[in-house]
Amino acid sequence: MDKVYIHDKVFVPFIPFEKISQIIDSVADKLNGDFCDADHDYARPSEKEDAPVLLCILHGSILFTGELLKRLNFPVELASMKLSSYVGTTSTGVVKEKAPLSTDITGKTVIVCEDIVDTGTTIVALKQKLLDKGAKDVKLCTMLLKPEVFCNRCELDYVGAEIPNRFIVGFGLDYDEYGRNLKDIYVLE
Ligand code: IMP
Ligand code: MG
Repeated sequence: MDKVYIHDKVFVPFIPFEKISQIIDSVADKLNGDFCDADHDYARPSEKEDAPVLLCILHGSILFTGELLKRLNFPVELASMKLSSYVGTTSTGVVKEKAPLSTDITGKTVIVCEDIVDTGTTIVALKQKLLDKGAKDVKLCTMLLKPEVFCNRCELDYVGAEIPNRFIVGFGLDYDEYGRNLKDIYVLE
């Protein structure tokens, strides 16, 4: 891992993929503990109706959701939605829905997959949106959390790891759309 240059800024190594992978293992273990049912039978039609929806918040959590999905041992339906609240390296506080929810979630349990929770503005607005759309229950799952700035206006059900209030890129996270393809996570120098 070396320094990376994105637009006008320099980022330095912060969380290597090996550590990210361990963080995702721990989130998956907790989800499997809560959602795995020894009697699950993929062939029974009712299984599909009962299955929770794993909701990938595009584009930031695309890699997190993919890595998490392959570690889950229970029937799950994958869905996506595109939201955005960041411009450059700061949150605007306004959550925009850039692409609609890809499936009907009426009566379903939705597990939201976020890359990172910063102020919490996105996740609080999103939870309300999903309940308004008829979700039976909404579980909030995030790979990373910045506890120093989190508003604490909702309970986070699954948190991979906590980080200081610094701007990061890589493993799906971007700086003005670039840096998502970095395998490891980097922090603004
Ligand atoms: P919040 O609404 O303030 O909690 O911000 C959450 C959203 O902002 C996340 O879904 C990310 O897309 C983005 N975000 C927050 N912190 C960072 C960061 O350090 N790097 C890149 N994107 C971030
Ligand atoms: Mg995001």
